[in-house]
Amino acid sequence: MRQIDELAALRAAIGEWRQAGERIAFVPTMGNLHAGHIALVEQAANHADHVVSSIFVNPLQFGPDEDLDRYPRTYQADCAKLAAAGCALVFAPTIETMYGSSGSITTTVSVGELATELCGASRPGHFDGVATVVARFFNLLQPDVALFGKKDYQQWRVLEQMTADLGFPIEIIGGETVRESDGLALSSRNGYLSADERGVAPELYATLNWAAEQLRYHHVDPKALAEAVNARLAEAGFRPDYCAIRRSKDLFEPATGDNDLVILAAAWLGRARLIDNLEVELTAG
Ligand code: PAF
Repeated sequence: MRQIDELAALRAAIGEWRQAGERIAFVPTMGNLHAGHIALVEQAANHADHVVSSIFVNPLQFGPDEDLDRYPRTYQADCAKLAAAGCALVFAPTIETMYGSSGSITTTVSVGELATELCGASRPGHFDGVATVVARFFNLLQPDVALFGKKDYQQWRVLEQMTADLGFPIEIIGGETVRESDGLALSSRNGYLSADERGVAPELYATLNWAAEQLRYHHVDPKALAEAVNARLAEAGFRPDYCAIRRSKDLFEPATGDNDLVILAAAWLGRARLIDNLEVELTAG
């Protein structure tokens, strides 16, 4: 696996593959890789001749009070995992390489309303920061396909929208969430949980499954159900941030007759903000 941190070497490697007419799949990451990232790399290999991954903790997507400084940096271990999964090239730029010598760029991507709701409401600017770094990666790497985990469901939809709006000729694929055996979605931030909190954490996914049953079989009103989810999470020891039930394809509020839904929730447990979601297909009629 080639490890590159400079633009000239990256352009040369990408140029070689492009000239040979070979397909490139891209899996962006912020490092601290777990089995969810590795599943995306393995899935990516089915769509291209070469899988490229990036490791870059992107300051633009962290708020002033968020965990940018303590976000785990585990570069050597990450490279070993990527190489074992068949990744051909890892691009791990410095902040200066990504954003110029002053470390701050002035041209950014603004995604619009979808970026201000749900997770965007409690993390202002987060999705614009994600869209900006991913757009820059797309320009540098020119992938044919890019893969994003569906655990970050809103991020996946925001990036689909950004890709379409900016006309990138790139297919966006969502990878299924990888879970611990007790249902907890794998996340780099699970490492912030204490042993007691780790015992409570699977309640998030269990509550989403409960909510899915209420939607499927009891036709509960989505807004009332979202409130009930928050109440159950609070009772289990979480500090709920939000729960919402949306149309899965675009995260709009569901209208009568919309049958493909997703339940999205975010809740704090100690210093970890956990997010999870569950797609629900209602039977028509
Ligand atoms: O999901 C992530 O790890 C990040 O938001 C991403 C897509 C790598 C952009 O920094």
